[in-house]
Amino acid sequence: MAVDVLLGLQWGDEGKGKIVDYLAPHYDLIARFQGGPNAGHTLNIDGKKFVLHTIPSGVFNPKCMNLIGNGVVIDPVTFKKEIEGLNAIGLNVNKTLFISRKAHLILPSHRALDAASEAQKGVSKIGSTLKGIGPAYMDKTGRNGLRIGDIEKKNFRDKYNQLLEKHLQLLKQYDYKHDIPSMEKDFFDGIECLRSFQLVDGEYFINNILSEGKNVLAEGAQGSMLDIDFGTYPFVTSSNTVTAGACIGLGISPKQIRRVFGITKAYCTRVGSGPFPTELNDETGEMMRKEGNEFGATTGRARRCGWLDLPALNYTILLNGVTDLIITKADVLKIFSHIKVCESYSVSSETTSQVPFDLCDEDCLPNYETLTGWGSEIDSMKNTSQFNDALQNFIEYIESKTGVRVSLLSTGPGREQLIALDKQLAR
Ligand code: GDP
Ligand code: IMO
Ligand code: MG
Repeated sequence: MAVDVLLGLQWGDEGKGKIVDYLAPHYDLIARFQGGPNAGHTLNIDGKKFVLHTIPSGVFNPKCMNLIGNGVVIDPVTFKKEIEGLNAIGLNVNKTLFISRKAHLILPSHRALDAASEAQKGVSKIGSTLKGIGPAYMDKTGRNGLRIGDIEKKNFRDKYNQLLEKHLQLLKQYDYKHDIPSMEKDFFDGIECLRSFQLVDGEYFINNILSEGKNVLAEGAQGSMLDIDFGTYPFVTSSNTVTAGACIGLGISPKQIRRVFGITKAYCTRVGSGPFPTELNDETGEMMRKEGNEFGATTGRARRCGWLDLPALNYTILLNGVTDLIITKADVLKIFSHIKVCESYSVSSETTSQVPFDLCDEDCLPNYETLTGWGSEIDSMKNTSQFNDALQNFIEYIESKTGVRVSLLSTGPGREQLIALDKQLAR
């Protein structure tokens, strides 16, 4: 019937995994549309934590089908580990998980190239997750890549060797030491694992599902401020993380898109290098990191923390056509009696609420509004009638500054720690 899109409005790690898992019962299919194992989507179910990298976050809902779309880049090694992790808890997804033949493969040599490129950049490195994302997408746009459909062909090994040869030449130019042969066994075991899944022509698959009157939730990875076109370039990832990326990464038309759920934390985080106007390099930032347990789900790196940034949020709402805001980690701010929100920037002594062309080059200083904090009462709230004045004010403030309604408020990492302001979204 329709596709709803769910994506991150900041620099990733907004809590997409948790929200997809929560919303999954409303959908027949959950479809990941871009990114790859750079993503780490955390789900907390019955006190147990699961981190998914490539597999859509609908897998814990038995009624949902899941699709890895053509826009995703798949590392067979990570994929196999994820599958084994699910099998270990008795979850077999062979019948419910589908993979687009047009998704691209990450080779061991892509990972080596990622590391070589970052090493060469030195202090100006992107802070990549080193999962081979950039080099795999470069091969895709450079028309050299290997796709999932290629693993069904007899000449797959030849194609692999041809691409590897190109990569070895490049690695020589980087003068980068690697041990690709020792990585190949795991890679080819991963390929066998992929072969045991249902490989589909994803664009036909998803459109057939829609024509049967079923509903799809498109799951984004990363966040809009990491988008290859609109993010803080060059400190971005290599795919389109915005709503339009769902059309490209799944093979659906823009006409099919209904709601766009944009997720924002009640503050900001960023992992890796690049500009971050509201970053707090002080005790307040440290308190946020500790209270929010802000450490990367994929790399374990400490996340940089800062206050909510409205110019950046309004920019990503604009890019995505967000119909519904979802605020996560509101509970983390309970430790502060007052919280700040950046309403505009001062750039070259001018005030602006636009994100400048090149945040990297600009001295971009945040101008803050201070709001009253909501305190620890938030922990026991189960519905909107329990909101105290400070929390209600915060929500209304965000709605008035963005022009978008807040539909869900997340108050903790657990599956059940969510308050539906839009009753349609209650479980
Ligand atoms: P994703 O990449 O967008 O799926 O987000 P991550 O899983 O990388 O990071 C979000 C982290 O915050 C995870 O550890 C979640 O368990 C946790 N989390 C999600 N929502 C909330 C929330 O409302 N409050 C708190 N305290 N933690 C949350
Ligand atoms: P999820 O889906 C947060 C960041 C990296 C680095 C930059 C480029 O869990 O929100 P890449 O490996 O893509 O070449 O890295 O992007 N990055 C993420 N940050 N969450 C993610 O995914 C990220 N995926 C990539 O830290 O700064
Ligand atoms: Mg994450």
